[in-house]
Amino acid sequence: MHKYRIRGGTRIRGVLNVGGGKNAALPIIAALVLSEGESVIHNCPRIADIEVSIEILRHLGCRTDFAGNTLTVNVQGITATDIPDVLAKKMRSSILFMGALLGKCREVSICSPGGCNIGLRPIDLHLHGLSAMGAVIEDDGVTMHGKADTLKGAFIYLREASVGATENLMLAAVLAEGETTLTNAAREPEIVDFAKALNSMGAIVRGAGTSTIRITGVKKLHGTTHRIMPDRIVTGTYLMSAAITCGDLTLNHVNPSDVKAITANLLAMGCRIDEKPASLRLRAPRVPMAIPHLITEAHPGFPTDMQAPFVAALATAKGVSVIEERIFESRAAHAAELNKMGARITLASDERVFVINGRPRLHGAVVESGDLRGGAALILAGLGAEGETVVTDKGYVARGYDGLAENLRSVGGEIWLEQ
Ligand code: EPZ
Repeated sequence: MHKYRIRGGTRIRGVLNVGGGKNAALPIIAALVLSEGESVIHNCPRIADIEVSIEILRHLGCRTDFAGNTLTVNVQGITATDIPDVLAKKMRSSILFMGALLGKCREVSICSPGGCNIGLRPIDLHLHGLSAMGAVIEDDGVTMHGKADTLKGAFIYLREASVGATENLMLAAVLAEGETTLTNAAREPEIVDFAKALNSMGAIVRGAGTSTIRITGVKKLHGTTHRIMPDRIVTGTYLMSAAITCGDLTLNHVNPSDVKAITANLLAMGCRIDEKPASLRLRAPRVPMAIPHLITEAHPGFPTDMQAPFVAALATAKGVSVIEERIFESRAAHAAELNKMGARITLASDERVFVINGRPRLHGAVVESGDLRGGAALILAGLGAEGETVVTDKGYVARGYDGLAENLRSVGGEIWLEQ
């Protein structure tokens, strides 16, 4: 159990460098299974989910070296097609190895993936698409066994613009025979970065970033050198730390165009934001303003991963804010914990609508994180609260943030991580 001990009240001020994106790196690492030879991935975050992905690569017979934020992977043939349950259960994106192994070896065995407890998190869109390409997937109730004599390109409509399903089907399609078209595909910047990495390996992927992605199958992929895009959600999380503490924070190595939906809402709260090509500076007002109605949507809408940090920030805004969580059905565990800190949040319509009555200030408390972004939100709330807050955490935060406590400390946050 991790414990974040925070003494609230100091302003977050200074400069931070933002690292590579968890949700950009994970599909790119899975894609290395499809390649032959050496790949070098720069700006790779040192977080738990990346470590799990590297362990999976090693299990599959790849040689790996992770020095600093540079991951080097050598693929001289894949020697296994199963994903150990203990690894698959640690994160949602283990499911991406299904598309990768079917694409490379035409077979795979994997149990249902793990991941944050923020909803049912079905994988029907993944399975439907893989079957449309010719995979036969049998589930014995514990493990899914997939086989494909041939993997043929297909025309696939995604009922939801699922990030994971889009990525999984891209992984299966790049070495399939013929053309695959994904319609209603996810448009997140991570998908664009993923396509860029695949194309640098010799794949033919067009339309990433739009809702129609076309993949023309090729015979094989070679190694590559790729730099992971900046983490959008880490960028947003640090911006919120300044917004909550009346701070003044500059973030370098970011991509302002990727976080427009986040910065637009911070402007609406009364923050001042200065943009440069690769940096952002946020100066916060003493009391942020409420946001009358905020809805989480697929990109380019407001990202669901920023819902919890915004709930934390709006808990001490002037006025009443309403946030609707439209992507996941149970991403509200942080509400009750924030209320223990004096917030006045009521949940409506199946706990998917947050009505947040802004308070002048929260007070410290012992609270528990229920998921990755909810844990980050509690830490942010602690930075602005009066007194001491202790956030107990089962390792969720470390799955998505590389050195969160020390980074916040370096810009004035009084926060310590006790293992
Ligand atoms: C990815 O999860 C991200 N994770 C999530 O970030 C992010 O919140 C989510 O996309 C939405 O942006 C990674 O990239 C590793 P989805 P994913 O498939 O792919 C439904 C974080 O905090 N759906 O886009 O699992 C699903 O239930 C994590 O970093 C189906 O119905 O999300 C949800 O309602 C949390 N059937 C919606 O689609 C399926 O087969 C969007 O989910 C798949 C998804």
